[in-house]
Amino acid sequence: MEILKVQNLCKTYGKGEAKVDALKNVSFSLEKGEFAAVIGESGSGKSTLLNCIGGLDVPTSGTVLIDGQNLFSMKDEARTIFRRRGIGFIFQAFQLVPELNVEQNILFPLLLDYRQPKQDEVDELLELLGLKDRRKHLPSQLSGGQQQRTAIGRALITRPKLILADEPTGNLDSRNSQDVIALLTRASRRFQQTILMITHNRSLTASVDRVFQVSDGVLTDLGGNKIENEK
Ligand SMILES: Nc1ncnc2c1ncn2[C@@H]1O[C@H](COP(=O)(O)OP(=O)(O)OP(=O)(O)O)[C@@H](O)[C@H]1O
Ligand SMILES: [Mg+2]
Repeated sequence: MEILKVQNLCKTYGKGEAKVDALKNVSFSLEKGEFAAVIGESGSGKSTLLNCIGGLDVPTSGTVLIDGQNLFSMKDEARTIFRRRGIGFIFQAFQLVPELNVEQNILFPLLLDYRQPKQDEVDELLELLGLKDRRKHLPSQLSGGQQQRTAIGRALITRPKLILADEPTGNLDSRNSQDVIALLTRASRRFQQTILMITHNRSLTASVDRVFQVSDGVLTDLGGNKIENEK
């Protein structure tokens, strides 16, 4: 089952001499539960791609279908709600709310949606994240790895079909980076979540299902680490 389908995506910034074709006719799709990585040089268009897929930026042309729904044919408000319920975002700079503790940060997307958290699910997630004994801590009282695990919890709490991660390990050492990859892998297996993750670190792509490379706005499928019909 296809969760993400990107067709002929183009994004051009600026005009005249300042014009940049950041994405050039990008097409690919991801299956349910697939964990894919995107690599590429700085300025190649990786974040632009992720932001267009997540509806944080608007493509110049092309379509993005998430679970069969066309993201850019929705009205702005519908797209915002769809994004909040169906897509989890993880960024390099964790972007936690400093005044909220670990548990409150994780629950934030549910509260925005006026949904009641189920305590057993929250406990299960905190356990998975290794944050049970830090649930009442503020972000400023956490290590970098703990902050990123909180941000991952916030992306997972709504059980989104699609998780988009832009350099989630960019501010972490190699040990914490491996932990983050392991957590994301577990999420994709356990909850059949589809993950698209940007990384600079080629060694972190060793365990993912598929690797894409973006170079100067052009996406190439470098294939998978797994045999196609294994899934
Ligand atoms: N808002 C913007 N206005 C104009 N140009 C932009 C804008 N955002 C990005 N660009 C340009 O688009 C290109 C792709 O940028 P993007 O942020 O997608 O790169 P990236 O691959 O994520 O790089 P990095 O690895 O450094 O994060 C770059 O050349 C950049 O200068
Ligand atoms: Mg980027």
